[in-house]
Amino acid sequence: MKIKVKSPANIAFIKYWGQRDSHFILPYNDSFSMNLSHCITEITIERLNDDHKKEVFLEDYLTKKVIPIQQERLEKIIDYYYLIKKFVDKKDDFGFRIFSKNNFPIKSGIASSASFYSALALGFSYLFMEKNLPEKNLSILARLSGSGSACRSIPDGFVWWKKGKNSKTSYAYSIAPPKYWDLVDLVLIVSEKEKIVGSQEGHQKALTSPFFKLRLTDLKRRIKEIKDAFLKKDFEKFGQLIEEEALSLHFVAMTQIPPLYYWSGKTIEIIKEIVYLRKKNRFGFFTIDAGENIHLICQKKDEKFFFQYFSQKKEIKKMIINYPTIGARLWEVKEN
Ligand code: DP6
Repeated sequence: MKIKVKSPANIAFIKYWGQRDSHFILPYNDSFSMNLSHCITEITIERLNDDHKKEVFLEDYLTKKVIPIQQERLEKIIDYYYLIKKFVDKKDDFGFRIFSKNNFPIKSGIASSASFYSALALGFSYLFMEKNLPEKNLSILARLSGSGSACRSIPDGFVWWKKGKNSKTSYAYSIAPPKYWDLVDLVLIVSEKEKIVGSQEGHQKALTSPFFKLRLTDLKRRIKEIKDAFLKKDFEKFGQLIEEEALSLHFVAMTQIPPLYYWSGKTIEIIKEIVYLRKKNRFGFFTIDAGENIHLICQKKDEKFFFQYFSQKKEIKKMIINYPTIGARLWEVKEN
């Protein structure tokens, strides 16, 4: 059997930073995101009879060359395969050959591991069960991959990950379909280089920042306010809150030990431009994940303006326009 799965990256408006349980990947706070229509991972998994054969190939985004994945990452994927086998309670093993490709640069603050591991959660569980798992279980499985935010790429549209009390109650669900709000995430790529420190290391050390506790207290208010702004589609309030949230995360990251500076000078330049444009009544707001690239959130009516404006900036290498979209899906099933 050979299957094809597609899954989106997501951008968090309320972010996940810090793990209260690093074995079960349980966060300290709820988080909230939107799936990205043009940041998609597509994987095909071929089930092989020889259960010793476990191969993963990646298509390099820049060169389009197909190369075997690094040994360390392969081992992580094989471990994840066994975790899924246990989760779905199956006895028989199978071999696999995976091809994965992205239509966006990996590891640069666009959640490429979220799209990859959510696709893998769906793909492996389907091959074990020969049917789809319920969405809630799939989301839990994606979270357990280690890339916690992958759980938010399973449901459709605008997605809430509740921190839960334990592993069974920490999962993501859709709070609104993609069509609910015509938001645009214009990813402003200032660098296509891979980031040096992964989020995993960052999560582990979040508590060493003196601002972490303050962030958690402040989040209670912010979460209440963002839910309200989202319900009312109050874009300016919503935008102000997502910026506040991104700054809060990065202040923690920069003050943890060792510190994590994800931003570059270019990131700051772009932030200043976005703030300046608001003075001219062009309403866009920024958010930034674990990388130096900027996600500019605007409404559809302003997309063209921002696209044209930032295409003229020397700092920007590339832009990706994203709309809210559905979560991970099984795309094709072929019996051999
Ligand atoms: C800053 O541990 O899910 O993006 O495995 O690197 O994809 P990766 O990250 P993960 O942490 C995500 C951290 C974040 C914020 C967020 O997406 O909520």
